[in-house]
Amino acid sequence: MRVFDSTADMKRWAWEHRLEGKSIGLVPTMGYLHEGHISLVRRARAENDLVVVSLFVNPTQFGPGEDLERYPRDPEGDERKCAEAGANVLYMPTAAQLYPPGFQTYVEVDKVSRPLCGASRPGHFRGVATIVLKLFSIVQPSAAYFGRKDHQQLQVITTMVRDLDLNIRIVPCETIREKDGLAMSSRNAYLASHERRQAVCLYQALLEARRLFNDGERSAERYLRAMRERVEQEPDARIDYVSLVDPETLEDLQEVQDRAVAALAVKIGSTRLIDNMLLEGRT
Ligand code: PAF
Repeated sequence: MRVFDSTADMKRWAWEHRLEGKSIGLVPTMGYLHEGHISLVRRARAENDLVVVSLFVNPTQFGPGEDLERYPRDPEGDERKCAEAGANVLYMPTAAQLYPPGFQTYVEVDKVSRPLCGASRPGHFRGVATIVLKLFSIVQPSAAYFGRKDHQQLQVITTMVRDLDLNIRIVPCETIREKDGLAMSSRNAYLASHERRQAVCLYQALLEARRLFNDGERSAERYLRAMRERVEQEPDARIDYVSLVDPETLEDLQEVQDRAVAALAVKIGSTRLIDNMLLEGRT
């Protein structure tokens, strides 16, 4: 596996291989890789000639007072995991390269960036869309792989690709969970053991929503109440939002018909966690 910290080297490698007609699968990450990331690398491996993993803790998607400085980092461990999973390139640029003095161009994906995490993290999706578009132009992938745990991020990127006519296939990949159901996330590393036990409430709240959906419940208010009640059982849990939204537009639903996304963001102590579940195909 090649490791590039220079954007010029990354671009040269990408152009040489695209000219040879090779397909490149890109897995964008902020590092501290877990099994969820590795599942994306394996999927990219299976569907492309070559796989690039990018590792960049992107400052423009963190707001003031968020965890940019203390975001967990383990570049050596990440390098080993990428090599084992079969990546061809690990691209680890510096912030100075990607945001040099004078940088002033940002991507705004308007409506889908506003609700849910967009409401509590203003500017977050502008930072995400900007860095993802930059990674797309540097790496020239034919496909890019993102986890469904960040459903809103996936919608923002899918909308950007559609609106800007980018010739890239966005591949949504299933959320990978711990044994008790907690969605894997680099931020789980912040949780103290008593918080880790409580963090399962996000998944259990989503299972409540799934149960109501399977029972044919239509009233969104009932779903929201059941989810909130489950989260509020935990002493260190503080709800940021609990929502039931249209999977594509992310607009709030009053009535649940055939498809919905139940989504929530909860602070466990000082750690903000998110999770969601697509409700479709009643069982
Ligand atoms: O999901 C993430 O890890 C980040 O938001 C991404 C897509 C790598 C952009 O920085």
